[in-house]
Parts: sequence; C-alpha cells; structure tokens
Amino acid sequence: MVKKNTCIFISGKGSNLKNLILHSRESIFPIKISLVISDNKNANGILYAKKYQIPYIFINTKSKNYENIVLLILKKYKISFICLAGYMKIISNKIIKNYQNKIVNIHPSLLPKFKGLNTFSRMLKNKEKKAGCTVHYVNEKLDSGSTILQKKFFIDQKDDEKILKYKTQKLEYRAFPEAIIKIFRKS
Ligand code: GRF
Repeated sequence: MVKKNTCIFISGKGSNLKNLILHSRESIFPIKISLVISDNKNANGILYAKKYQIPYIFINTKSKNYENIVLLILKKYKISFICLAGYMKIISNKIIKNYQNKIVNIHPSLLPKFKGLNTFSRMLKNKEKKAGCTVHYVNEKLDSGSTILQKKFFIDQKDDEKILKYKTQKLEYRAFPEAIIKIFRKS
C-alpha cells in the first residue's frame, strides 16, 4: 500500500499529532506524516515532530501572501492530504481550493452543534446531555464541511469543563485514526 503523504497543522499541545504519528507507524495505516506545520513557535506539538524525526515548519499567518508560501511548501513535500489537529487559525480559501476534499479537521463537539471556540463551557451552560467529537472535511465555512465520523458520550452531572475536555480527547484519539482509515477505504 502506498501511504498518502500527509501534513499535520498544529498550534498547541499536539496530543492528536502524537497519536496520529504513532498510528502512522503501523504498516496498514493509510497515511505517512511527512510534514508538520505550526503557526506557533512555542507549540508543544513540535516536540513530537522532533522526537519522531518529522520535518516541521513554522508559518507566520500575518505575513502577506503566506498562503502562497504554504502551498509551495506543501508542493515541495508532495503533500496530498492535510489534517488539522488543534490548528487555531482559519485555513484560507486559496489553500482549500488547492486541496478540495483533502483537508480534514477534528472538532471537540457534536457538529453542527457548538462550532468555534469554548465548546465545553457553552455545552454546560446549555445543559447538553451529550458531548463528543467530530472529524469533518474542511470547507470555506468554519466547522461546516461534511462529517466523516462522530463519537459521543453522555455528560455526567459532575462533569466540569476539564473533565469534558479529558473525555472528549480520549474519544478523539480513536476518532481521528478511524476517520482516516474510513476516508481511504472508500477511495
Ligand atoms: C482538540 O481537542 C481538537 O478537537 C481541537 O483542538 C484540540 C487540540 O488538542 N480542534 P491537541 O493539540 O491535539 O492536544
């Protein structure tokens, strides 16, 4: 099996990145992580890129035409698939157009509910019964592309934001790899 050359975009902790790196080391997993891009020089996730000897590049999304630079980098590394794993910036339309249906994101809610930030505090305020995560394709609208896979759990009365985040991330570590397998099983 030829693995898809994949780039992971991160901004912070990088626990999903670490999880995907570990999965990608299995021969049957459909992607090879060939590049990590971070918009944050202090992102903890870069430590995983270093540890597993994956090339990494920092980008400055404030610089003019940064999308062209990103597209050139992606081309140089022959990237054909992109995962957003805790990437906190909006992916520009130019990049999306070049990677139509080739960019996926993981979001800590049961989309279409709770798009955007601060999902857990809004869920608690809303007295939601269920929480979870969604892996979805990225399109021009925030957290709105079609869903690939969702995983859910029932919120316990005692759950606070910290616990909800913990439970959600535990599910994310299963959901993201499963979604990637599902995508490439179809193609
Ligand atoms: C994840 O919970 C993901 O749903 C959201 O950002 C978080 C990233 O966590 N988009 P990590 O950096 O992978 O640990």
